[in-house]
Parts: sequence; structure tokens; C-alpha cells
Amino acid sequence: MIRKPLCFFLLLALFSKSFSQTVAQKSVQQKKMDDFVSNLLSKMTLDEKIGQLNLVSVGFDVTGPIVSKNVDENIRRGNVGGVFNTYTPVAVRKLQELAVNHTRLKIPLIFGYDVIHGHKTIFPIPLALASSWDMGMIQKSASIAAAEASADGLDWVFSPMVDIARDPRWGRIAEGAGEDTWLGSQIAKAMIRGYQGDNYDTTKVMACVKHFALYGAAEAGRDYNTVDMSERRMYQDYLPPYKAAIDAGAGSIMSSFNEINGVPATANKWLMTDLLRHQWGFKGFVATDYTAIDELMAHGMGKTQSDVAKLALDAGIDMDMVSEAYLANLKQLVKDGKIQVAQIDVACRRILEAKYKLGLFTDPYRYCNDERARQTIMKPAFLDAAREAAKRSIVLLKNNNHVLPLKAGGSIALVGPLADDRKDMIGPWSGAGDGDKAVSVMDGIKKLVGDNVQINYARGANILNDTGMIARLDQPKGTLTIDTRSEADMINEAVNAAKKSDIIVAVVGESAGMTGEAASRSNLNIPGNQEDLLKALKATGKPMVIVLMNGRPLTLNWENDNADAILETWFAGTEAGNAIADVLFGAYNPSAKITITFPQNVGQIPIYYSHKNTGRPYAGDFLDRYKSRYLDVSNDPLYPFGYGLSYTTFSYGDVKLSSSTIKPGELLHISTTVTNTGKYDGEEIVQLYTRQMVGTVTRPVEELKNFKKIFLKAGESQAVDFTITSADLRFYDINMKYTYEPGDFKAFIGTNSRDVKEADFKLLK
Ligand code: NOJ
Repeated sequence: MIRKPLCFFLLLALFSKSFSQTVAQKSVQQKKMDDFVSNLLSKMTLDEKIGQLNLVSVGFDVTGPIVSKNVDENIRRGNVGGVFNTYTPVAVRKLQELAVNHTRLKIPLIFGYDVIHGHKTIFPIPLALASSWDMGMIQKSASIAAAEASADGLDWVFSPMVDIARDPRWGRIAEGAGEDTWLGSQIAKAMIRGYQGDNYDTTKVMACVKHFALYGAAEAGRDYNTVDMSERRMYQDYLPPYKAAIDAGAGSIMSSFNEINGVPATANKWLMTDLLRHQWGFKGFVATDYTAIDELMAHGMGKTQSDVAKLALDAGIDMDMVSEAYLANLKQLVKDGKIQVAQIDVACRRILEAKYKLGLFTDPYRYCNDERARQTIMKPAFLDAAREAAKRSIVLLKNNNHVLPLKAGGSIALVGPLADDRKDMIGPWSGAGDGDKAVSVMDGIKKLVGDNVQINYARGANILNDTGMIARLDQPKGTLTIDTRSEADMINEAVNAAKKSDIIVAVVGESAGMTGEAASRSNLNIPGNQEDLLKALKATGKPMVIVLMNGRPLTLNWENDNADAILETWFAGTEAGNAIADVLFGAYNPSAKITITFPQNVGQIPIYYSHKNTGRPYAGDFLDRYKSRYLDVSNDPLYPFGYGLSYTTFSYGDVKLSSSTIKPGELLHISTTVTNTGKYDGEEIVQLYTRQMVGTVTRPVEELKNFKKIFLKAGESQAVDFTITSADLRFYDINMKYTYEPGDFKAFIGTNSRDVKEADFKLLK
């Protein structure tokens, strides 16, 4: 018999042997790629190299203000390195053939697309997926998106968006994971793994992490706006998710539209070269966002396209999305001695490497397989996964007197502009998704409960009545469904439906187009005409459940005060209606928790849980003015970060520590017992936060360090144990060194960032 220590050393030896074999294999592969690319580069003319740096938009979607021209001809001439907005095996093959059959060196094109939360099977929007806190499921959603995209001709996706965002006025908050740096970093890693896998097999795609950097901090939540941020906040709060994605192996990065402390990202050498390449060691390629090089002129960085092309190349930008500034100017800039061919070589090499890694040099049509597309796209298992993801992303914000789950009997007034809607279900940035294939709430309920429930439907209101907003959002025409009846007529119909019914289910909120890119809002209420509908419904005295659809935190004071239950369903994707019905009727007990603070009003923004204490923290003394507070509203959010209810209830025991002190490197166990005290089985997301009480710089009042999602049967208890070490307590100190500082800490465990129990410990020297 082998004794334990011996067995351990044998295993260790085997492990290190296979580890060094893997490292050796990697360097052989790396050398093969280097040789291949060097050889190819040595044959390329300057024009051919510059062509590789050009990314054009052509095909099915318009996602920016300008559309690329003469694309076929440019491909034939070797003026194009990549294409986006074209998919399907047939359309991709057609363009790929132009590159492969007509250009001298037959270099294949890379095909990108905005696959953000699913390709054809649309998953909940990223902010919703984040609310599941379910890394396995998030990874699976990216993996399914990759399987569908790669079957549909694509090899490159413009995702994940890992911009930390704390301003819900910004429409693009819908596309990210919310406000928290640690959670955002975990999600970034899961998405990269899901998209890329280990070695880009044919069912995988290359990810493009965006928007580098700090796009989520656009001033006043206005899209494309300025970012000005201290270095400390950048490193501490905003940069880690990009870094996490890169460490997870992300193949490419997209530059952001915004400036950072006076220099737009696309011209920012510190960002694109010093930080990204030298400090972080990023080896992939950087593409700009849409026309971002041209936009450097409007930013005031250069007078001519030639000026800004030089700035971008000097900064370290490899690929030019849509501006064609590189195509038109780099050759002359070389002739004038303003840039070096070696710079173009570097950029071109990175793009060729990406194509090599994706296997395009071996088979340019690797992703063009009609049969695979037919067998893969929207297959039942993917739809099931989307339904599961949607259920797990829905957050129960309020539930008085157990009004939910609904009984599968009696009658429901199903009202609201989104109650019988399909196309909005898939939300913003659903690119290739087909809204007509989505399940409406009406269909979902009917399918689940059939004739057992009498549904009295009334639209009740349009999504908006602001004519300016309608005009901006109804592009192309027909995007918004507008009922031409008078508002009073629609409300009356809904009130009559309510009077005949046992309970009201009002499906209200934003249309998909009111969130996402170019959808900043300064007023975060549910549009006024929908609020009028809700008020009229409330006046009937019938219990009212609000099913919300929206891509951002809304200000919901009236709704919180007046509705009996509120279900935050975001934009839940292709399977939205089925998932919402599952939750409404208790086939699934909601478990999601918001990853973004919901403010009481817009004036509180930015509001986030990991704020600083200030020198005058407000401790609740109503009359004390000289505190960090408002005169007209409390400092509290409407719903705090990490908040979400269940049909059951959970109680938390005291926080126990394995020791009241730890030394650097030692493990500290922080634990509690969670009990399901209600009547339903359910899942709970148990959250661990810490606070460093004193530091060389001020520290947040709370920082998320970990969580566990546990399942408890009704009445069941479970011990939940977290471990941390000094490494988890690191931050950027007074000298911007990433380190920990000995001293006093608090550990908090709770059901959200506000409702926690605490214990004190000390980190010793
Ligand atoms: C602009 C958006 O900012 C970016 O996220 C997107 O990937 C590109 N357009 C391409 O559509």
C-alpha cells in the first residue's frame, strides 16, 4: 500500500510533469504561429499590411452613424482585414471567397458581430444575467452564444462589456454586470471562458472586451461623454474587470469612445500601450469602437484624418472600425516619415495572429457550415437554457402578504403595453435575435396555466406619450407599437378588466430601445402615461402585481409604496414569457439579487454601496443638517446592492470567525448558519463583505469579497463558510502599491449589502 505522503508526492510529480508538458506544447504552438506569421508578413506589401488593419461594416445591421462603402471591391483589392454585421454561412462565405480567391496572399477575413447576450437564442440582458450571481450559468450563456454565432459564420464577438457603471441614467448600464468591481471581474472571466473555451475549437469564438476603458463613468450618464477620474479610483474600482478578462485569455479589446482625463481612449498611449501592453502584458489585438478614430477630430485631437490616424497608431490601436482612416492615410504617413513601417507590422501581426488562432488560415470557411447552423441555432436545449437563465435573473423586489406566487385559478387582469409584446422581450443589443420568436408574458401564462386562469387583457397605455421621444425611438418606423386610441379609453378598458378580475398583473416599464446605446435618460420614472395607468388600476382596490421590464434601475417610489408585489424581469430574452410565468405562478422560486443600487430619485446618482464614510457620515439624526446628506431625501437607496426577495424567508445566525486575528497568508474562516424559515424551498445568495477601518487612504464602508448561492429546503439550515487571507484585503495604498495593511477590519455576512451581521478581526503584521 502506498502511504499518504508518498502518494501525495507521486501525484505532485505527475501534475508538474503534465504541467511542464503543457507549457512546452504551448511554446511549440507559439513558435509555429510566430514562424507562420513572420513568413506571411515578409511577403506582404505595405498596402496589404494596411488593408489588414481595416474593419468594415456591411450587411444586416446599422450600428453606427456611417456605413462602409465599396466593400466588395475593397475586399478584392486587399483593403479589408475584417467585416462585421454580416452573418449566416452563405453571406459570410460570399465575402470570404472574395478575400481568399481574389487577393494575392489569400488572407482570410475575420467576421465580428455584436453578440451580446446570445446570438439567435437571446438570453436576458447582461445586467439581468449578473443578477443571477450564477457564474456557471453565465458561462453557459456565453458558450451557447458562441456555439450559435460560430455556426452562423462568425468567429469574433464584441462582448463582454465589462464597464463598471454606477449611473443608471446611462442606457448602456443594461449591457454590463452592474456596479461592483469584484463581481464584475468574476463575470468577465466566466464570459471569456464561455466564448473562447481553451483553444478555439469550431464551436468557440474570439471575445472582444469592451469598452477600454472606463466608458461606464461617462459624466452625467450621457452617452459618449467625458470621463475624468483619479488614478486611484481607476485602478481600484474600474480597471479590474478588464484586467480579469485579459488574464482569462481574452483575444481582443475594443477602445472606448470616451476621453480619459483629457485624452480619448483611442489616442491614449498611456492606456493602450503603457498600461495594456507593458503593465498587463496583453498579447491580443485592439480594435477601435465605431468611427472612433475619425471622432478624434471632434474631440479636438487633430485637424485632419491623417493627424488622428497617426495618433491612434502611435497610441497602439491595431484595427480601425469603419473610419477607414488607416486605409486612407498610413501609407502617406510612412512616406512622410511620420510613422514607421515597424508600427504597422506590429499591428498587422496581432491581427494575423488572431486569424491564425481561430484556424482561419487552415480553413477560411471553418465557420460556414449550413448543416451545423441548422442543427445548432435555437435548438431546444438552448431555449431551455435561456428559460432557465431568465428565471434565475428575475428579481422579486416586493411581495406583500404573499400575493405572489399567484394561484393557478380565478382571474387575472393582464394589462400594460408590454403584457402582450414579443419584440421588446429580447431587449437592447439583441443583434441577430428575432423578437417575433420571443415568448410574450401573455403566451407564457397561457401555456403554463391554460384555461385554469381567466385572463382579462387590456393594453392600458402606450409605452410613452412624449412625442419627441417617440420620434427618436421609432426608428426604423414600426419599432414602437403605438395604439392610436385616446389615453382615457385605454385606461378605462384596463380598469374594467381589473374590476372583473381577482388580481392585476401590470406589465410596464421601458421599451427595449429606451435602454442600451444612445439611450441615456435624465428621468428614470416609469413614463408618465404608464404611471397614470397604474394609478387608475390602484384605485380599483384590487391587489396589483407589477411586472417590470427595463434595462436599468428605475426610480420606483410610487410603485414601491402602492404595488403589492414587484417583479423585476429586465429584458429576459427569447424565453421571457415562459420564465416570467414560471416565477409568477411559483414553478420557480425567485433567487436573483440586483447588482446595481436602485436610487430613490435621480438626484442621488451616483449612488453605490461601496461608498466612503466621509468626515461627517449621516447616522440618521433627522434634524442634524451638518452631515453628508440631502435636505429633501434620505441617503438610503430604494433597493440596496445585493437585494432580492424569495417566496420563502431566510434567517441568518451570528457571524463567527475562526480567530479574531490573522497573520499575512493565514486563512480566516468567516461563517454563519442560514435557515430557510418560510414555506417554500429556495435558493439564497449569501454575501460576504469586509471593511478596513483605518488605512493610509480612506476605504469604502463595505466591499464585496465573496458569495455563495445555496439551496435550502423549507425548514432546513446550512452552515456557510467563507475563507479569506490577507491577499483578499489588498487595495491601492497611499503609494499606489497593491497591498494589504495590518489593522482592524469588519466582516459582514448578509442577504444584501444593507442587511448584514458583523464581526471584528485584526490583520496582524
Ligand atoms: C458601437 C458600440 O459602442 C459597440 O459596443 C459596438 O460593439 C460597436 N458599435 C459595433 O457595433
